Amino acid sequence: MSQTSGPSEVVFDVLRYNPEKDAKPYRQEFTVAVTKGMTVLDGLVWIKENLDPTLSWRSSCRMGVCGSCGMFINGLPRLACANQVAHLHSDRVVIKPLPNFDIIKDLVPDLEAFFTRHRTVKPYLIRRAVEEQNQPTSEYFQSPQELVQYIQFAYCIKCGLCLSACPTVATDDRYLGPQALAQAWRYSADARDEGGKDREQEVYSSHGVFRCHFAGACSEVCPKGVDPAFAIQLLKQDLFKRKLSGCKEQHGSPVTAPITEAKENPKIPKAPAPTLTK
Ligand code: SF4
Ligand code: FES
Repeated sequence: MSQTSGPSEVVFDVLRYNPEKDAKPYRQEFTVAVTKGMTVLDGLVWIKENLDPTLSWRSSCRMGVCGSCGMFINGLPRLACANQVAHLHSDRVVIKPLPNFDIIKDLVPDLEAFFTRHRTVKPYLIRRAVEEQNQPTSEYFQSPQELVQYIQFAYCIKCGLCLSACPTVATDDRYLGPQALAQAWRYSADARDEGGKDREQEVYSSHGVFRCHFAGACSEVCPKGVDPAFAIQLLKQDLFKRKLSGCKEQHGSPVTAPITEAKENPKIPKAPAPTLTK
């Protein structure tokens, strides 16, 4: 036994599926000797090198940065490289591809629909002066106070774990989902951006923020503390605040407080809730 705690051997119970030859997915078991610090990704690499070279998944950085090794591990969406086998406290590691994604092969999810959602919210800085944006004549400066408005949401590594945990995505494949909506807020809350209005149609569509039931599963599983559920509430709040501002002009009643209390993320200092007036 080469580690200090946990079983010396575990069974990797992996969902296999090759659409070119399998009628449906099936489970296959591999016995793996656990070494100290072994991650789930290390275990899969060992299986591929020693037992079955056809086993397929996606990974790159091995350090929780690239976002490519998302899998459903012992009942939760997780990064395979960021979870040690010993920390699962089980003699079985049950691995399936991420829910809410089509399967390309074995543990490889099809990310096309995920990135289509992402592109839908225009996840980049938009400036009204197109020529200036394409050929800027100077830097767009930003204060530390302006940075904190969105920085938490800029930590997204596009791993798709939030999308796979979302119960609304499971029932509405047109719902924009937590990742894309968090990125809509990330860019619209950026003081250098002038594209809030360009994103509104999608964000507040019938498959936008108001489809969110605030289950909060997206924020629970996010490995980077992005807290997409918080971003979605900020988008809702922003719309209400702007609507109430309209009421103020009409009825003369001032908006004295935010409509909702923002949920605090224990992992990251709370970002203040800016108002989009762009
Ligand atoms: S918000 Fe979090 S869980 Fe969702 S894609 Fe980004 S990093 Fe992954
Ligand atoms: S391999 Fe890059 S996040 Fe896991």
